[in-house]
Amino acid sequence: MDSLIDKLTSLSKRRGFIFQNSEIYGGLASTWDYGPIGAELKKNIKDYWWNYHVYKRDDIVALESSILSLNKVWETSGHIQNFSDPLMECKVCNARFREDELEKSDGSCPTLKCDNKTFDAPREFNMMFKTNIGPVVSDNSEIYLRPETAQGIFVNFENILNTSRKKIPFGVAQIGKAFRNEITTGNFIFRTREFEMMEIEYFVKPEDSEKFYQEWIESCLNFLLSLNINKSNLRVREHTKEDLSHYSKGTSDIEYKFPWGWGELQGIANRGSFDLDAHSEASSKNFSIFEEATKTRYTPHVIEPSIGVDRLLLITLLDAFNEEQIEGKDDSRTVLKLSPIIAPVKVAILPLSKDPKLSELAKNIQKDLLTKGDLGKIEYDETQSIGRRYRRQDEIGTPLCVTIDFDSLDDNSATVRDRDSMKQKRVNIKELHPHLLSSINNYLK
Ligand code: GAP
Repeated sequence: MDSLIDKLTSLSKRRGFIFQNSEIYGGLASTWDYGPIGAELKKNIKDYWWNYHVYKRDDIVALESSILSLNKVWETSGHIQNFSDPLMECKVCNARFREDELEKSDGSCPTLKCDNKTFDAPREFNMMFKTNIGPVVSDNSEIYLRPETAQGIFVNFENILNTSRKKIPFGVAQIGKAFRNEITTGNFIFRTREFEMMEIEYFVKPEDSEKFYQEWIESCLNFLLSLNINKSNLRVREHTKEDLSHYSKGTSDIEYKFPWGWGELQGIANRGSFDLDAHSEASSKNFSIFEEATKTRYTPHVIEPSIGVDRLLLITLLDAFNEEQIEGKDDSRTVLKLSPIIAPVKVAILPLSKDPKLSELAKNIQKDLLTKGDLGKIEYDETQSIGRRYRRQDEIGTPLCVTIDFDSLDDNSATVRDRDSMKQKRVNIKELHPHLLSSINNYLK
């Protein structure tokens, strides 16, 4: 029997969520492209995250920094020295893998190519991708692709403070690509070498850092729950001292119960003043803040909630995936019970057949709904039987389908079908827009 992740990978390809990159040439391993439906889902996730964490409050500003930076940035942040994983090499088949994978395979080479148990001593492998800048390739032209978006925020701290007029506490949000030359990738889009991150650096007074650290853990959990992610599939795990990254005073991961076990979905770190101190010293800039009330100076501490877009997208799919028996019928269906907030298509308009009169009415309804707005993506589809079209909409998680049949020509009504209950209701075409809006709102309750 196919595993859940196999089923999801196959559905993703079949319905246009996610394709293997360079597939026509055999595929680049662990690299994925988002298709027409997947790209909409990804955009909705980023928009919702931005709405939730930036637009619903007044203390977070935006930044879009470059993927390339001076090497000095990565020297100062500690990434050149510390951003590495211990790499092992099998003495028999020469396969390379992360040291912690040995534990999972009882000490045998985990590649399945051999059952050797002897390896070279682990060595540190830096995960930053290198490239060359400019037309001359030399040691001096080497430059890194960013492994996180956070450093772009720290090195712009002074610029942001001077232009945004924000006072401590305030945050900076950024969504963008990051690159890590991971030793081991896998589990579909869980761990890839190119991925997108949504990060906030929230600057606070040092004595407030613990309070805001706890607040951000709660806010991030609430964000996930607001997307209907099953509570029992989420847990918070605090890092032990040995687990902590080189910069962290405290980190908690929000973990998700993946089909292969609990794994990191999001990190919330109390980075102290590590980054601002390091960049201040290396650049000879003063990033401390003068507090008028106490006439003292302090360097802000920072709380950092950071989540991968692709990893969040994966859990929205895993969590929403359902195979169920259709009540009263000897039939089953696959349905993605995605929150309508992020569903790639909100409403599908489906004329019962290709009869020109039905097509004309259905296209007019779609045009009217698009003009009135507020509903998001509305898809028109008149191919295949109505049953197959419902099946497709269920599989891409469309909350509402509107069917136009021959009766519609006489009674000016259409059938609205609800994705989860599969209940159908006749609605007057003039009432469709408010009805669809309130049905979507009902899903959110
Ligand atoms: N600036 C903090 C930072 O980079 P991180 O825990 O290394 O922290 C943050 O990464 C998040 O990015 C992770 O919680 C995960 O959601 C995502 N992420 C990290 N590495 C990834 C990879 N190779 N593929 C996909 N997502 C990844």
